[in-house]
Amino acid sequence: MCDNFSQQVEQAADWIRSAERLSAMTGAGVSAESGVPTFRGAGGLWEGRRAEEMATPEAFRADPACVWRFYNMRRDRLLQCAPNAAHQALAEIEKDRTDFCLITQNVDGLHRAAGSRNVVELHGDIWIDRCGVCDYAERVTEVSQAPIPRCPKCDGMMRPGVVWFGETLPPDAIDAAQTAAAQCAVMLVIGTSSMVQPAASLAMVAQHHGAKVIEINPESTPLTADANLVIAEKAGTAMAAIAKALSQPE
Ligand code: APR
Repeated sequence: MCDNFSQQVEQAADWIRSAERLSAMTGAGVSAESGVPTFRGAGGLWEGRRAEEMATPEAFRADPACVWRFYNMRRDRLLQCAPNAAHQALAEIEKDRTDFCLITQNVDGLHRAAGSRNVVELHGDIWIDRCGVCDYAERVTEVSQAPIPRCPKCDGMMRPGVVWFGETLPPDAIDAAQTAAAQCAVMLVIGTSSMVQPAASLAMVAQHHGAKVIEINPESTPLTADANLVIAEKAGTAMAAIAKALSQPE
């Protein structure tokens, strides 16, 4: 395994260039440089707070207004955030390929804002409100002033369009992610603690089918020991360098 950053970038670019299909899996770390807090670690959203207090159907049933305050706080913060160099590099890489699938656990919409097109949002989209009773859903762009938004169709309580702990992932998203993992020749795993299933197992699915797995994360994770290449750098630095290497003639 190469231990110097520029060699690692060259190695990653070589594998990506020759890969017939490319996938990437991103987590909260890819948005950290945009000012979006991660979930785990210092300053993370779950620090000093149990995820079950805010991100489960039980929490919503017990105190919907409290859960809405948490999501409104996150939406408020996201309104101040823009895509960073990592989001932009991923969108840039996609422009030159037809076989690129970007799987994300993030709900912040920053990949699409950067111009990525083939994005699988495994954990939903924080900018969708959906009814907890009927099938009504709508995209929102502002933070609601109502303590609990109501459904315009059936007056049921609206909830954020994200996947909570204990809920199943959208079947289309998990199918698309599993297919992309099984078919790719290279999978980039960027800015995720690789602790939440089933997302965390997709890198292993890819590797099991013969793909090279490249992890980009300044910290080690449960994936680190198995990755074919580890770039222990921030996502913005590493992805900008990889996109630059790919844009240059071999
Ligand atoms: N560049 C790359 N990685 C970074 C950066 C950065 N600038 N900053 C932090 N990281 C890494 C951290 O080292 C950590 O491993 O990003 C990872 C963030 O981990 P988590 O906060 O656990 O985020 P994620 O893996 O996306 O969480 C998965 O858990 O609570 C849920 O539903 C939520 O989708 C989320 C899921």
